[in-house]
Amino acid sequence: MSATTETTTSAPTTHPGIVAWVTEVAELTQPDRIHWCTGSDEEWAELTASLEATGTFTRLNPDVMPNSFHAASDPTDVARVEDRTYICSVAERDAGPTNNWMDPEQMKELMRGLYAGCMRGRTMYVIPFVMGHLEADKPMFGIEVTDSAYVTVSMRVMARMGTDVLRRIEELEAAGESPAWVPALHSVGMPLEPGQADVAWPCNDTKYIVQFPEERMIWSFGSGYGGNALLGKKCYALRIASVMARDEGWLAEHMLILKLTSPQGVTKYVAAAFPSACGKTNLAMLKPTIPGWNVEAIGDDIAWMRIGEDGRLWAVNPEFGFFGVAPGTNEHTNPHAMETIRKGNSVFTNVALTPDGNVWWEGLENTPAQATSWKGEPWTPESTELSAHANSRYCTPIKQCSILADEYDDPRGVPIDAILFGGRRKTTIPLVTEARDWNHGTFMGATLSSETTAAAVGAVGVVRRDPMAMLPFIGYNAGDYFSHWVGIGKDNDAAKLPRMFYVNWFRRGDDGDFLWPGFGENSRVLKWVIERLDGQAAAVETPIGHVPAPGSLDVDGLDLTDEQLAQALAVDAEEWKAEIPQIEEWFEKFGDDLPAVLWSELDTLKARLEA
Ligand code: GDP
Ligand code: PGA
Ligand code: MN
Ligand code: MN
Repeated sequence: MSATTETTTSAPTTHPGIVAWVTEVAELTQPDRIHWCTGSDEEWAELTASLEATGTFTRLNPDVMPNSFHAASDPTDVARVEDRTYICSVAERDAGPTNNWMDPEQMKELMRGLYAGCMRGRTMYVIPFVMGHLEADKPMFGIEVTDSAYVTVSMRVMARMGTDVLRRIEELEAAGESPAWVPALHSVGMPLEPGQADVAWPCNDTKYIVQFPEERMIWSFGSGYGGNALLGKKCYALRIASVMARDEGWLAEHMLILKLTSPQGVTKYVAAAFPSACGKTNLAMLKPTIPGWNVEAIGDDIAWMRIGEDGRLWAVNPEFGFFGVAPGTNEHTNPHAMETIRKGNSVFTNVALTPDGNVWWEGLENTPAQATSWKGEPWTPESTELSAHANSRYCTPIKQCSILADEYDDPRGVPIDAILFGGRRKTTIPLVTEARDWNHGTFMGATLSSETTAAAVGAVGVVRRDPMAMLPFIGYNAGDYFSHWVGIGKDNDAAKLPRMFYVNWFRRGDDGDFLWPGFGENSRVLKWVIERLDGQAAAVETPIGHVPAPGSLDVDGLDLTDEQLAQALAVDAEEWKAEIPQIEEWFEKFGDDLPAVLWSELDTLKARLEA
């Protein structure tokens, strides 16, 4: 620690490993102060007040949005940075062809240079957290050290954190279990010289988001954006956890989890993997339009799934909040999200601010006559620029969700009946297709394609392969990841595993409009899925799998022409034939690491298309 480092709250743990690591980080980064987070309401009040003082936060009108804040990022720091994200495995081969790689020792040397003195003039916050339940058999601990109060406040919403976590680590330690914890180091990378005023959104043009898979360690530098800086989420719960899952025989996936109850009172659990900004949060909180059906939410972004003693695949949501895409969210598309948000206790980033101290974004009702855009500029409905960034987000406690299923609190999770894969495709991919079996479903997931979105920096609308919606999140060689999926099917009783489906809410008609109305109407697709599980709904076999037989999809009361429905469900052999060389090119990337069964699945698809 520098001679001037003071600890505002003295280390509230005697855990030697944690104290040693925090001391080592402080020596390197040289913060002015160290604050050990308790997770208390008082701490939240202090931190949010300090964020108001630096101009990072604007407190919203408590009558409309209690205990909530608006933040605007630097315009260059609005999304995940995939080209700056690295998997620094010891062997390059283990990062695979889909990740950036650098030798871990070389990366550490480079980043130590960046971290040296990088917290000068700032407070270093130590955040003990757990992904998943504190009462889990093996709680998944982490310690995030960050020089950002914004990150600290957001982490309190998104993860279980604070003193309780430290106490649990110590308790397990005392019981001789020496629990593992993931060290997660984050800095915005903008030290303050004596007398230098801070800016509202400190960050650095140089960014690195780095996972060291063997060491189960995360180093992040230069960005304050959620996916780059709240290290429990993408970095731990997906990238590092996927490596743990490979080693231990489970799955860490980019999936929502929902509970669906039929009018007859039969309950099923569905997990769904869609790439970022492709509809997970909306489906997780869906309000069915078909009478008698009910959806309850369990998770909206991440599922950790393990084979239970009963041979079924059990899923938990390791998170504690929603980090949802704001634009497009409204009383019609997602009434449950709106109700959740209105309870307050939320951080809104890069949305517009209205004169009455509320937030607004494109797609929300009650368009204001004027507002301040996310860039801090005056905005009116006539403005040509968007008021909210396309990847603007609300960060809201999950416990505020009135349709949160009770099972959310169960460390065992829920047994998954169906897995959906889906993406944004204008063409080719029908509304819903059922896989023939586990390997075929794995093939669907492995070849999943989607148009890129504003959730990551870069071009938007470009079709790319995004296997299992995990392209930016697989912490190891994607060829091995496919083998791991195939292995889950091989090593377990197929009859007890979830059935797999491929969905596409985003197919477009000749007029360029979406063919399927989406949102609450997606309950009709969920109904068909559930009825397939029970052998009730009819399907027709096509070269790509089973699609709804005429009349089997409930379209009662739906404002959709027969022609639109037919187009949404269509399997066009020519479109699929055009897809084949793209899939071949994709598979060739993995060389011998691609499991042979996926090549066989492709051969089967080709043969069926020719037949
Ligand atoms: P996530 O990032 O995967 O959680 O995706 P979200 O649920 O936040 O949705 C991302 C964007 O897609 C938002 O602008 C939504 O309004 C939009 N969206 C979500 N579901 C649907 C749907 O069923 N149909 C259409 N057309 N848009 C949707
Ligand atoms: P999303 O989560 O999947 O809800 O967009 C954030 C992200 O993936 O960056
Ligand atoms: Mn996500
Ligand atoms: Mn989401």
